[in-house]
Amino acid sequence: KETQYATTKDVVETYERKTQSLKATLSVEVPFENVHVLPQTPQLIALLSIIRNKTTDRADFIFYSNRIIRLLVEEGLNHLPVIEHAITTPVGRAYNGLMFQGKICGVSIMRAGEAMEQGLRDCCRSVRIGKILIQRDEDTAQPKLFYDKLPDDIADRWVMLLDPMFATGGSAIMAVQVLKAKGVPEDRILFLNLIASPEGINNFVKKFPRLKVVTAFIDEGLDEKNYIVPGLGDFGDRFYTM
Ligand code: PRP
Ligand code: URA
Repeated sequence: KETQYATTKDVVETYERKTQSLKATLSVEVPFENVHVLPQTPQLIALLSIIRNKTTDRADFIFYSNRIIRLLVEEGLNHLPVIEHAITTPVGRAYNGLMFQGKICGVSIMRAGEAMEQGLRDCCRSVRIGKILIQRDEDTAQPKLFYDKLPDDIADRWVMLLDPMFATGGSAIMAVQVLKAKGVPEDRILFLNLIASPEGINNFVKKFPRLKVVTAFIDEGLDEKNYIVPGLGDFGDRFYTM
Protein backbone atom coordinates (compact mmCIF):
# COMPACT_ATOMS: atom_id res chain seq x y z
CA LYS A 1 0.00 0.00 0.00
CA GLU A 2 1.29 3.47 -0.90
CA THR A 3 2.39 5.68 1.98
CA GLN A 4 0.13 8.71 2.38
CA TYR A 5 2.18 11.84 2.93
CA ALA A 6 0.53 14.89 4.46
CA THR A 7 0.17 17.79 2.04
CA THR A 8 1.21 21.25 3.16
CA LYS A 9 -2.43 22.18 3.66
CA ASP A 10 -2.96 19.12 5.88
CA VAL A 11 0.06 20.09 7.95
CA VAL A 12 -1.14 23.67 8.36
CA GLU A 13 -4.63 22.54 9.29
CA THR A 14 -3.30 20.03 11.80
CA TYR A 15 -1.15 22.74 13.31
CA GLU A 16 -4.12 25.13 13.44
CA ARG A 17 -6.15 22.50 15.20
CA LYS A 18 -3.28 21.87 17.59
CA THR A 19 -2.68 25.52 18.35
CA GLN A 20 -6.40 26.01 18.95
CA SER A 21 -6.38 23.26 21.51
CA LEU A 22 -3.00 24.42 22.85
CA LYS A 23 -4.14 28.06 22.88
CA ALA A 24 -1.01 29.60 21.31
CA THR A 25 -1.63 33.21 20.32
CA LEU A 26 -0.85 33.88 16.67
CA SER A 27 -0.24 37.22 14.95
CA VAL A 28 -3.02 39.75 14.39
CA GLU A 29 -3.89 39.89 10.69
CA VAL A 30 -3.98 43.17 8.78
CA PRO A 31 -5.52 43.90 5.36
CA PHE A 32 -2.46 45.48 3.71
CA GLU A 33 -0.86 43.71 0.79
CA ASN A 34 2.56 45.26 1.47
CA VAL A 35 2.69 43.92 5.04
CA HIS A 36 4.07 40.37 5.15
CA VAL A 37 3.82 38.45 8.40
CA LEU A 38 6.09 35.40 8.64
CA PRO A 39 4.21 32.08 8.53
CA GLN A 40 3.04 31.37 12.07
CA THR A 41 4.79 28.02 12.32
CA PRO A 42 5.25 26.11 15.58
CA GLN A 43 8.98 26.88 15.34
CA LEU A 44 8.48 30.64 15.06
CA ILE A 45 5.94 30.73 17.88
CA ALA A 46 8.28 28.68 20.11
CA LEU A 47 11.21 31.04 19.35
CA LEU A 48 9.07 34.10 20.04
CA SER A 49 7.85 32.53 23.29
CA ILE A 50 11.47 32.31 24.47
CA ILE A 51 12.37 35.91 23.72
CA ARG A 52 9.06 37.24 25.09
CA ASN A 53 9.55 35.40 28.39
CA LYS A 54 10.70 37.79 31.12
CA THR A 55 12.84 35.05 32.75
CA THR A 56 14.94 34.49 29.59
CA ASP A 57 18.53 35.58 30.24
CA ARG A 58 20.55 37.76 27.88
CA ALA A 59 22.53 34.90 26.28
CA ASP A 60 19.34 33.07 25.30
CA PHE A 61 17.63 36.31 24.30
CA ILE A 62 20.47 37.02 21.85
CA PHE A 63 20.64 33.45 20.52
CA TYR A 64 16.90 33.05 19.87
CA SER A 65 16.44 36.62 18.60
CA ASN A 66 19.19 35.87 16.07
CA ARG A 67 17.31 32.80 14.88
CA ILE A 68 14.16 34.86 14.21
CA ILE A 69 16.21 37.63 12.58
CA ARG A 70 17.64 35.04 10.18
CA LEU A 71 14.10 33.99 9.21
CA LEU A 72 13.16 37.63 8.62
CA VAL A 73 16.21 38.29 6.45
CA GLU A 74 15.60 35.14 4.39
CA GLU A 75 11.97 36.20 3.84
CA GLY A 76 13.01 39.78 3.09
CA LEU A 77 15.29 38.54 0.32
CA ASN A 78 12.23 37.02 -1.38
CA HIS A 79 10.97 40.55 -2.00
CA LEU A 80 13.99 41.71 -3.99
CA PRO A 81 13.89 41.68 -7.80
CA VAL A 82 15.25 38.69 -9.70
CA ILE A 83 15.96 37.98 -13.33
CA GLU A 84 16.14 34.71 -15.26
CA HIS A 85 19.49 32.95 -15.03
CA ALA A 86 20.21 29.83 -17.09
CA ILE A 87 23.10 27.67 -15.88
CA THR A 88 24.65 24.31 -16.72
CA THR A 89 25.02 21.67 -14.00
CA PRO A 90 28.12 19.42 -13.58
CA VAL A 91 26.27 16.63 -15.42
CA GLY A 92 25.94 18.84 -18.46
CA ARG A 93 22.25 19.64 -18.17
CA ALA A 94 20.69 23.07 -18.46
CA TYR A 95 18.78 24.52 -15.55
CA ASN A 96 16.58 27.60 -15.85
CA GLY A 97 17.12 29.46 -12.63
CA LEU A 98 16.98 32.97 -11.22
CA MET A 99 19.45 35.47 -9.84
CA PHE A 100 19.15 38.60 -7.78
CA GLN A 101 19.22 41.85 -9.67
CA GLY A 102 20.24 45.16 -8.21
CA LYS A 103 22.40 46.34 -5.35
CA ILE A 104 21.28 46.27 -1.75
CA CYS A 105 22.32 47.75 1.56
CA GLY A 106 21.19 47.47 5.16
CA VAL A 107 20.28 50.46 7.31
CA SER A 108 19.90 49.92 11.03
CA ILE A 109 17.95 52.19 13.36
CA MET A 110 20.29 52.42 16.35
CA ARG A 111 20.57 51.01 18.91
CA ALA A 112 18.27 47.99 18.70
CA GLY A 113 18.38 47.75 14.89
CA GLU A 114 22.10 47.04 15.02
CA ALA A 115 21.23 43.67 16.53
CA MET A 116 19.86 42.68 13.10
CA GLU A 117 23.00 43.54 11.13
CA GLN A 118 24.74 40.19 11.67
CA GLY A 119 21.71 38.29 10.37
CA LEU A 120 21.85 40.35 7.19
CA ARG A 121 25.62 39.86 6.87
CA ASP A 122 25.21 36.10 7.31
CA CYS A 123 23.02 36.05 4.18
CA CYS A 124 24.59 38.83 2.12
CA ARG A 125 28.37 38.69 2.36
CA SER A 126 30.08 42.09 2.72
CA VAL A 127 26.78 43.95 2.46
CA ARG A 128 27.11 47.70 3.00
CA ILE A 129 25.42 48.95 6.16
CA GLY A 130 24.29 52.46 6.99
CA LYS A 131 23.21 53.74 10.40
CA ILE A 132 20.52 56.10 11.61
CA LEU A 133 20.52 56.97 15.30
CA ILE A 134 16.98 57.69 16.45
CA GLN A 135 15.97 57.54 20.10
CA ARG A 136 12.43 57.57 21.45
CA ASP A 137 11.85 59.99 24.31
CA GLU A 138 11.08 57.79 27.34
CA ASP A 139 8.23 60.03 28.55
CA THR A 140 6.56 61.18 25.33
CA ALA A 141 7.56 58.29 22.99
CA GLN A 142 8.41 60.94 20.38
CA PRO A 143 11.42 59.98 18.21
CA LYS A 144 14.45 62.23 17.95
CA LEU A 145 16.99 62.03 15.14
CA PHE A 146 20.63 62.37 16.26
CA TYR A 147 22.77 61.10 13.39
CA ASP A 148 22.86 59.31 10.08
CA LYS A 149 25.70 57.84 8.05
CA LEU A 150 24.64 56.10 4.86
CA PRO A 151 26.36 54.72 1.74
CA ASP A 152 26.97 57.52 -0.81
CA ASP A 153 25.13 55.62 -3.55
CA ILE A 154 22.17 54.64 -1.37
CA ALA A 155 19.71 56.17 -3.87
CA ASP A 156 20.72 53.41 -6.34
CA ARG A 157 20.26 50.57 -3.86
CA TRP A 158 17.48 48.50 -2.38
CA VAL A 159 17.41 49.25 1.35
CA MET A 160 16.72 46.68 4.07
CA LEU A 161 15.72 48.90 6.99
CA LEU A 162 16.32 47.11 10.30
CA ASP A 163 14.58 47.64 13.64
CA PRO A 164 13.22 44.83 15.81
CA MET A 165 10.46 46.87 17.51
CA PHE A 166 7.73 48.80 15.71
CA ALA A 167 5.54 50.43 18.38
CA THR A 168 3.92 53.78 17.49
CA GLY A 169 5.84 53.68 14.20
CA GLY A 170 7.40 57.11 14.92
CA SER A 171 11.03 55.96 14.74
CA ALA A 172 10.56 53.95 11.54
CA ILE A 173 8.65 56.82 9.89
CA MET A 174 11.47 59.22 10.77
CA ALA A 175 14.06 56.78 9.38
CA VAL A 176 12.15 56.44 6.10
CA GLN A 177 11.98 60.24 5.83
CA VAL A 178 15.79 60.33 6.12
CA LEU A 179 16.11 57.68 3.39
CA LYS A 180 13.65 59.48 1.10
CA ALA A 181 15.53 62.76 1.59
CA LYS A 182 18.66 60.92 0.31
CA GLY A 183 16.75 59.94 -2.84
CA VAL A 184 15.72 56.35 -2.01
CA PRO A 185 12.30 55.68 -3.55
CA GLU A 186 9.71 54.32 -1.15
CA ASP A 187 9.14 51.15 -3.14
CA ARG A 188 12.84 50.25 -2.82
CA ILE A 189 12.71 50.10 0.99
CA LEU A 190 11.94 46.89 2.88
CA PHE A 191 11.37 47.27 6.61
CA LEU A 192 12.35 44.12 8.57
CA ASN A 193 10.95 43.91 12.04
CA LEU A 194 10.39 41.33 14.82
CA ILE A 195 7.30 42.60 16.63
CA ALA A 196 4.91 45.27 15.39
CA SER A 197 1.78 46.88 16.82
CA PRO A 198 -1.37 47.39 14.72
CA GLU A 199 -1.13 51.14 15.49
CA GLY A 200 2.44 51.30 14.13
CA ILE A 201 1.49 49.35 11.00
CA ASN A 202 -1.54 51.58 10.34
CA ASN A 203 0.42 54.82 10.79
CA PHE A 204 3.19 53.56 8.54
CA VAL A 205 1.02 52.18 5.74
CA LYS A 206 -0.98 55.43 5.61
CA LYS A 207 2.23 57.41 5.08
CA PHE A 208 4.12 54.95 2.87
CA PRO A 209 1.65 52.74 1.00
CA ARG A 210 4.30 51.43 -1.42
CA LEU A 211 6.90 50.40 1.15
CA LYS A 212 7.04 46.73 2.15
CA VAL A 213 7.10 45.53 5.75
CA VAL A 214 8.23 42.04 6.73
CA THR A 215 7.46 41.25 10.36
CA ALA A 216 7.50 38.12 12.49
CA PHE A 217 4.41 39.06 14.50
CA ILE A 218 1.79 41.78 14.93
CA ASP A 219 0.83 42.08 18.60
CA GLU A 220 -2.39 43.23 20.28
CA GLY A 221 -1.46 46.89 20.74
CA LEU A 222 0.33 49.43 22.91
CA ASP A 223 0.17 50.14 26.64
CA GLU A 224 -0.08 53.59 28.28
CA LYS A 225 3.71 54.05 27.89
CA ASN A 226 3.54 53.10 24.21
CA TYR A 227 5.25 49.76 24.80
CA ILE A 228 4.07 46.89 22.64
CA VAL A 229 1.81 44.40 24.47
CA PRO A 230 2.25 41.60 25.16
CA GLY A 231 5.59 42.47 23.50
CA LEU A 232 8.94 41.55 24.96
CA GLY A 233 9.89 44.68 26.91
CA ASP A 234 12.80 46.84 25.81
CA PHE A 235 14.61 44.97 23.05
CA GLY A 236 17.76 47.12 23.18
CA ASP A 237 18.14 46.69 26.95
CA ARG A 238 17.57 42.92 26.78
CA PHE A 239 20.00 42.43 23.87
CA TYR A 240 22.78 44.75 25.01
CA THR A 241 22.72 45.60 28.69
CA MET A 242 20.39 43.62 30.94
C1 PRP B 1 12.98 51.38 20.27
C2 PRP B 1 12.93 50.45 19.07
C3 PRP B 1 12.46 51.35 17.97
C4 PRP B 1 11.50 52.27 18.71
C5 PRP B 1 10.10 51.80 18.47
O1 PRP B 1 14.15 52.08 20.27
O2 PRP B 1 14.13 49.81 18.79
O3 PRP B 1 13.49 52.09 17.37
O4 PRP B 1 11.82 52.18 20.10
O5 PRP B 1 9.18 52.68 18.99
P1 PRP B 1 8.25 53.60 18.08
O6 PRP B 1 7.73 52.75 16.99
O7 PRP B 1 7.19 54.06 19.03
O8 PRP B 1 9.08 54.74 17.58
P2 PRP B 1 14.58 53.14 21.41
O9 PRP B 1 14.35 54.54 20.92
O10 PRP B 1 13.95 52.78 22.72
O11 PRP B 1 16.13 52.98 21.47
P3 PRP B 1 17.10 51.71 21.58
O12 PRP B 1 17.17 51.15 20.20
O13 PRP B 1 18.38 52.33 22.02
O14 PRP B 1 16.54 50.75 22.57
N1 URA C 1 10.86 49.77 22.14
C1 URA C 1 11.03 48.52 22.65
O1 URA C 1 12.16 48.04 22.77
N2 URA C 1 9.94 47.86 23.03
C2 URA C 1 8.69 48.36 22.93
O2 URA C 1 7.71 47.67 23.29
C3 URA C 1 8.53 49.64 22.39
C4 URA C 1 9.64 50.33 22.00
